[in-house]
Amino acid sequence: MRKILIATEKPFAPVAVKKISKIFEKAGYELQLLEKYTEKQELLDAVANVEAAIIRSDKFDKEVLNAGKNLKIVVRAGAGYDNVDLDAATVNNIVVMNTPGQNSNAVAELAIGLAIMGLREMYSGKPGGEMRGRTLGLHGFGYVARNVFRIARAMGMKVIVYTRYSKGAAAAIGLKVAKSLEDLYEKSDIVSIHVPARGEHIKSVSSEVLCHLKDGSILVNTARKEVINEPDLVKCMEEKPGIKYMSDLTPDCEAEFEEKFPGRFFFTPKKAGAQTAEANLNAGLAAAQQIVDFFENGDNTHQVNK
Ligand code: 3PG
Repeated sequence: MRKILIATEKPFAPVAVKKISKIFEKAGYELQLLEKYTEKQELLDAVANVEAAIIRSDKFDKEVLNAGKNLKIVVRAGAGYDNVDLDAATVNNIVVMNTPGQNSNAVAELAIGLAIMGLREMYSGKPGGEMRGRTLGLHGFGYVARNVFRIARAMGMKVIVYTRYSKGAAAAIGLKVAKSLEDLYEKSDIVSIHVPARGEHIKSVSSEVLCHLKDGSILVNTARKEVINEPDLVKCMEEKPGIKYMSDLTPDCEAEFEEKFPGRFFFTPKKAGAQTAEANLNAGLAAAQQIVDFFENGDNTHQVNK
């Protein structure tokens, strides 16, 4: 009997676990659950005898992948797979997949929520501002950004986007494309970041673009902390005292934010973008089905280490 592991330091909603287990039960697989683990050793022990794993932001580095002697597939229930060492997986003949788009509405709603919280001065009682009529700049145009666009447009915002690979898709829905990242940052009242922590995006939000932000603007980050050049962001916020940073990812220099920028930032206590029952169900069930389709039909759609 195939053994499948769900390894989630941040667990799925119980309803999602229940429905995932039904999919595996129907396929005749045995499900093992490792939730809220605190020690890496627990993960090393859990992967040792399974053929597949469903994970979230759980770190699958070389050591974990090597420990999974029978592992054939790891599915990251979500979009970003920067937590998986793809080279080590490939060397070990382990297929890695993600579940693109499945949790994107949840993350988009959080991005809008963070923007509103910033605009409303953290609900402190100080007069804030409204989304309607303001310009929202989308840095990137993947599944999450497209959902943010849908919501922002309904709120009466002007929306512009900077994208290198999806210009056609943006133009097709009448979305204005900024000519450069600098142009996007300069024109926006709120910038929402939607690029992965890969390649050229790492530390791409640096002084070069940040210096174009208007004083009084809001930077929203529901992507990854790695896309921000943190010293440059601190410098930019020192120079422009009206800028706020609203993030689903706590920066490494959190203490510096606390000391220097009271009332100008908010970090969710735990990465919360995809933490809704709906997103857990969408991404979790997609991951489970992808594992069954892989074993039963050799389907490798959504493989990210081809
Ligand atoms: C993703 O990449 O899908 C999101 O960042 C969600 O991550 P999580 O599953 O760890 O909440």
